[in-house]
Amino acid sequence: MSALLSPISLRDLALANRIMVAPMCQYSAENGEANDWHFTHINTLALSGAALFCIEATHVEAVGRITPGCLGLWNDATEAALKPILVSVRKHSRIAVAMQLAHAGRKGSSHKPWDGGQQIPLPEGGWQTEGPSALPHKDGELPPLALDASGLARIRDAFVSAAKRAERLGIDALELHAAHGYLLHQFLSPISNRRTDQYGGSLQNRLRYPLEVFDAIRAVFPKTKPIGVKVSATDWVEGGWDLEQTIEFARELKARGVDWIDASSGGVSPLQKIPLSPGYQVPFAQGIKQATGVTTIAVGLITEAKQAEEIVASGKADMVALARGMLYDPRWGWHAAAELGGHVDAPPQYWRSQPSTQKELFGKTSFGAR
Ligand SMILES: Cc1cc2nc3c(=O)[nH]c(=O)nc-3n(C[C@H](O)[C@H](O)[C@H](O)COP(=O)(O)O)c2cc1C
Repeated sequence: MSALLSPISLRDLALANRIMVAPMCQYSAENGEANDWHFTHINTLALSGAALFCIEATHVEAVGRITPGCLGLWNDATEAALKPILVSVRKHSRIAVAMQLAHAGRKGSSHKPWDGGQQIPLPEGGWQTEGPSALPHKDGELPPLALDASGLARIRDAFVSAAKRAERLGIDALELHAAHGYLLHQFLSPISNRRTDQYGGSLQNRLRYPLEVFDAIRAVFPKTKPIGVKVSATDWVEGGWDLEQTIEFARELKARGVDWIDASSGGVSPLQKIPLSPGYQVPFAQGIKQATGVTTIAVGLITEAKQAEEIVASGKADMVALARGMLYDPRWGWHAAAELGGHVDAPPQYWRSQPSTQKELFGKTSFGAR
C-alpha cells in the first residue's frame, strides 16, 4: 500500500491521496480576471490525479499583484471570471480546489517573468507598492511606502473579503501566502521589516501582522474547511529569517488552528544563496513537523514517484506538492499511481488509456460497445 496514495483528511476535506498541484502564477489575467488560459490550465491539471489543486497566488487587491497579469479576487468581476472555471472542474473532476490568497507588497509592480521580471517604473505603467518598511527589494528600485495602521487594516480586510468570495465560489481550502518574499514574508523577515512599532523588531512583533491576517480569514472561512500557510523556512541569508523562527511561527499558527504548513524557502533578498538539489526543501517540512506536529507539505524539486513516496512513507512530510513537474507531465498522478501500484481517479472519457498491465489503475471501470 502506497503512503503517497493513501487518503488524508484536513478538517472535513477528505483527500484521496497526498499529492497537491502547487500554486503557479500564470501571469495571464487581465485586470485580475481569469480567462480562457486559466480555464485550460486549471481543467488540465484537475485531471492530473492529484487530490488537491491549489489555484495560483490570487491577489486580494490590485496594488498587491506581482505583475499586471496576476490573478485577483477583489471585486465582482474577478469573482465572476473564476466561476465558469470552477463549474467545469466540478463537472469533470473530483479534485479538491484550494486557492492561495496573496499580496506582493514591495515585490509588486514587476514585469512578467518572460518580459524580464524587473520592477516596472511608474511612467511605464508601474504602480507605487507598499511594504512593512520603505526598503526596496533590490538596490536602485523605487522603494515601497511603509504601511501605516489604516493601510494594514485595509489589506487585512481585503484578505477577509477575498476569503468570503472564495467561499462563495465553493473553494474547498485556502492557503495563505507567507513565502517567497511577498508581503506577509516581508513582515516576518528582519531583512525587509525594520519597523519600530508593534509589527517590527522582536520575533513576536514580526509575527504579529501575518497572524492577524490568518486570524481574520480563519474567522470568516467555514470551520469545516481547512486553511494552510505557505512559508519560506529560510531566507538563505545570514541574519535573515530561518527555520527556528519558522517553527515559532508554525507553533503560533497551530494554536490558531492552521491545517497545514507548506514549506518552501527564499525570495526576500537578491543576496540569497540557495543550494538546489532534489527535495532540497524537504528537511524544512520535516523540521516543522517534528517540532510542532503540524501537518506539512513538502515542495521543491520533487519530480519522481518513488521520491515522493519515500518523503511521505518516512514521515518527513504528510503531503507533497509539485509545480514544474506537473506542468511537464500533467498526468503525473496517474503515472505515479501506475509506478507505485495504486489507483487514481480519471474521467470515463479517458478510461481506455489504462495500460494493459494496469487493469485497475482507474479503479473498477467498465466500458463496452456493440
Ligand atoms: C510557473 C510557476 C509559478 C509559480 N507561482 C507560485 C505561486 O503563485 N505561489 C507560490 O507559492 N509558489 C509559486 N511557485 C512556486 C511553486 O509553487 C513551488 O513552490 C516551486 O516551483 C518549487 O516546486 P517545483 O520544484 O515542484 O517546481 C511557482 C512556480 C512556478 C514554476
